[in-house]
Amino acid sequence: MPAQGGSVKKVAVTTVALSLMVSGAALGGVFSNGQSLLESRCAVCHPSSKAKVLKRTPAQWDGIVSNMMKKGAKLNAEEKKTLVKYLAENYKK
Ligand code: HEC
Repeated sequence: MPAQGGSVKKVAVTTVALSLMVSGAALGGVFSNGQSLLESRCAVCHPSSKAKVLKRTPAQWDGIVSNMMKKGAKLNAEEKKTLVKYLAENYKK
């Protein structure tokens, strides 16, 4: 029965995709890199280009991100570290 064979295969593929998602989440942030944090958490109030035109030292980026968190940027400690590292590496003085 070809139709049935097809759906079994589809279930198997879905299962693999799901388990990859679960293990990715368990590893903590495989899917959240600095760039996606910048686009998803910082571009809600102003375009992310506001950050991109600046060249700052890691300490300055840390200060800016802390400042933005006070304004309302939603980042946990881990995400903040990832984002500051990303900004400091890509937009450094
Ligand atoms: C709740 C709204 C909000 C969010 C979220 C937000 N910002 Fe801002 N941001 C502002 C406002 C308002 C200003 C302009 C006032 C100011 O400069 O203090 C600003 C200004 C800035 C500036 C210019 C500051 C300067 O010194 O010239 C940078 C860089 C910046 N934001 C980066 C970020 C980054 C990186 C994030 C993500 C962590 C972020 N912002 C998230 C509201 C926000």
